[in-house]
Amino acid sequence: AAGAAGLVAGGASAVAADRATRDDAGTTALTSIGASAVDFGGQARAHGTPQAGILDPHQVHGHLIAFDLAPRADRKAAAALLRRWTQAARALVEGRPADREDTGSALDAGPASLTVTMGFGRTFFGKVGLTKQLPQALAPLPDFSSDVLDKARSDGDLWLQIGANDGLVAFNALRVLQRVAGDTARVRWQMTGFNRTPGATGKPRTTRNLMGQIDGTNNPKPEEDDFDARVFVPKGGDASSPAWMAGGSYAVVRRIRMLLDTWDHLSLEQQERVIGRRKSDGAPLSGGTETTPVDLEKFTKDGSIAIRGDAHVRVAAPESNQGAAMLRRPYSYHDGFREDGQPDAGLLFIAWQADPMRGFVPVQRKLDRGDGLSRFLRHEASGLFAVPAAAKPDEYVGQPLLE
Ligand code: HEM
Repeated sequence: AAGAAGLVAGGASAVAADRATRDDAGTTALTSIGASAVDFGGQARAHGTPQAGILDPHQVHGHLIAFDLAPRADRKAAAALLRRWTQAARALVEGRPADREDTGSALDAGPASLTVTMGFGRTFFGKVGLTKQLPQALAPLPDFSSDVLDKARSDGDLWLQIGANDGLVAFNALRVLQRVAGDTARVRWQMTGFNRTPGATGKPRTTRNLMGQIDGTNNPKPEEDDFDARVFVPKGGDASSPAWMAGGSYAVVRRIRMLLDTWDHLSLEQQERVIGRRKSDGAPLSGGTETTPVDLEKFTKDGSIAIRGDAHVRVAAPESNQGAAMLRRPYSYHDGFREDGQPDAGLLFIAWQADPMRGFVPVQRKLDRGDGLSRFLRHEASGLFAVPAAAKPDEYVGQPLLE
């Protein structure tokens, strides 16, 4: 799936930009990557202020980590945990050590556009006595026929998405947040991913995935009229979301392994027909350049349809799914090689939407039935998390739910 085409620029602060040029020893950094910082408080939009890590350009390093509450952890303990996480995350995204026990592996690197995004899984609510606040939008995702899900690497009470443009910064944040979880929550699963280094190409916004395709082109764009309605819960909530989710979004997380041995045997032409776009530059097979709108009705000179019936971009498009849309902001992953010799590699697919029933669910149902790409994929893990709006300056993430 996708990348960050059209995502708003991550707000490197003036202070950080200034720091970019010289470090303490007075020497000059080669780039401003380390010194760039994202505002933990998020950027205000029509429906509220979403947490950072949704609209920011995706970073080169990503960690996803899910936790389960300890058996006796109640709502008060959960609130204290979110307060500790928020406090630590605030320091880290500003490039400061989280606390006195911070190991220090992120020192010297600057904040490196670190983001920490926090969410709640369906199972959280019953454990802390908040079932009345459980969003309908957190209804379990349906089973799809091609799912081969590993339950141990799926779901979870709490979820963190960590992204940074430096590997040490990303790991340090992961370690700090796991450590300060203390006795309240223990790690359920963790996954690590990556993207292209920012600034490595003249077209930094649309990255490639491990199948080689430019991925993220036709994402909804923050400047489009219907963007906020598609991605964020409106003020006051709606039929599928209580008011505490206003300005928030739902993250669908799927670990999707790519059957690269099979995929690499296809000719370039076959690969392009499976997607409906050219591999070299991402242009739709109906013509034009990467950003030319896809023409699903177009016929080629020889009378055949330009974009095949089972092409991924046709089956996944809002036009084929009664307008259903989501913002895809994934990481690639590679966890070595399997016993059968195939790469354990693919996409940590993360899709953001105001309601999964108007985003991921109908689209994946359609893909599950008739997508040419699905033959080369295995969905191996799955999660769905409610990600509330950003914390106000003196609050913690999730405070409107937990206080
Ligand atoms: C488009 C790859 C899984 C939804 C695309 C494109 C590529 C791609 C190359 C065209 C460029 C673009 O517009 O981003 C992949 C790969 C996947 C994957 C490699 C798995 C490893 C999924 C899943 C969903 C999805 C699971 C949702 C259930 C979409 C949507 C579009 C898209 C909505 C845009 C279609 C349009 O409006 O043109 N994907 N995809 N993809 N994909 Fe995927």
